[in-house]
Amino acid sequence: MDGLSEHDARLLVRGGRRLEGEVVLSGAKNSALKLLAASLLTADPCVIRRVPRITDVGTMVTMLRALGAEVAGEDDALHVRAGAGLTGCAPYELVRTMRASIIVMGPLVARLGEATIAMPGGCNIGPRRIDFHIRGLEKLGARVDIDHGFIRVRSDGLRGAPVPLDYPSVGATENLLMAATAAEGETVIENAAREPEIMDLCAFLQGMGAEIEGAGTSTIRVAGGRPLHGVVHSVIADRVEAGTYLLMGAATQGRVSTLGLDPVHLGLFLAKLRAMGVQVDEGHERITVSRDGPLFPVDIATLPHPGFATDLQAQTMVLLTLAQGTSIVTENVFENRFVVVDELNRLGAGIETTGHHAVIAGPRSLSGTVVEAPDLRGGAALVTAGLIADGLTEVRGVHHIDRGYEDIMGKLRGLGADVLRSADGPRTGASTTASPPAGEVERARRT
Ligand code: EPZ
Repeated sequence: MDGLSEHDARLLVRGGRRLEGEVVLSGAKNSALKLLAASLLTADPCVIRRVPRITDVGTMVTMLRALGAEVAGEDDALHVRAGAGLTGCAPYELVRTMRASIIVMGPLVARLGEATIAMPGGCNIGPRRIDFHIRGLEKLGARVDIDHGFIRVRSDGLRGAPVPLDYPSVGATENLLMAATAAEGETVIENAAREPEIMDLCAFLQGMGAEIEGAGTSTIRVAGGRPLHGVVHSVIADRVEAGTYLLMGAATQGRVSTLGLDPVHLGLFLAKLRAMGVQVDEGHERITVSRDGPLFPVDIATLPHPGFATDLQAQTMVLLTLAQGTSIVTENVFENRFVVVDELNRLGAGIETTGHHAVIAGPRSLSGTVVEAPDLRGGAALVTAGLIADGLTEVRGVHHIDRGYEDIMGKLRGLGADVLRSADGPRTGASTTASPPAGEVERARRT
């Protein structure tokens, strides 16, 4: 980040601009973090390219170094070497910062025969349990104890086994995939997650010499017990980043193209945009949206891939506030992923929630004010709302957004958005509630 204090940064967004242009996508956060963890499976150097410059990657690099691995960066590539000094204890402070740190558990018990990981807390969007991870490791022969807030996993040799998952958990599939590479014999993960990030991890592990079949299907077979070697691998593009900018383009009635993503990774999402009346053109690793007519309401239910991605749910609700009618959004993946609705309603969204359902009765006219990002994707939704709200929207808690969006301000400016990143201290009420004279964001930018 450009030297801003982490928790003071805010984005000032002036609505009313049509976004036009191309966005070069960064590598996928939800793949890069796992590939970094998978690098622990070998003492050989691994090179991971197209790593997004986001704070969650920084946290994972700190974690790998805390475990004793060497990590060096150049441009958008990271070089990881987890040599003989590797230890198996992941500290609370880092796990608390980023729940995804739990993903080092599988590789550590595979490589060292033990892992001690602080229990990841829940987060804004739900308790984020890890029972599927633990039960799966036990099926592979590991002993798991939870003691004084730590998960202690020990094994004197993992053994391949059938591992049925009650739910196609992304994280559990990933942890078990990595552990299975060290389990003697065949492991069969049933009801595995099918996200593109799982396929990217399987490709990375195959590049290391792992024998894996069924990547991207519900049944993944791993012939474990072979030593793994280093690999050079480029992370797939971030489909959630892509969907976010495509939604912004549709909401502002502009024309936005994302570069680098295979449209297949956004299957149902693009079909829903078309059903809403958005023009969607697909090319080779290029997706373009535009809109010159009204938007129609649609119902959306988030599901594991290839269902509608929960990570695009909040941002899509913003687009649905513009539809000529009522839409119902059902969140089936996380227990509490409507946290941002209260903030969206302060902009005038008028969304009503009951349990896992949100009712969006469009069309609504949003008006800018000060809002607080509750989490990563909620923050992206608030920025999206600011782009179509009347006047100025000040989005606080930008550190949430920095966790998963590389250079969001540069990419938005590249699309013509009137946006400014500010680290001002707390501003007087008057200056943030009243919309400053038009062009202030523009003038501030020129200073
Ligand atoms: C990954 O989280 C992603 N995070 C999430 O993205 C994404 O929303 C999610 O997958 C679903 O696609 C990363 O990859 C770092 P899950 P993960 O295990 O692995 C329950 C973002 O915004 N569950 O599929 O935690 C769990 O409580 C983030 O980028 C159990 O009950 O997702 C949740 O309700 C947010 N027990 C549901 O399953 C378990 O042992 C989905 O969890 C594991 C999960």
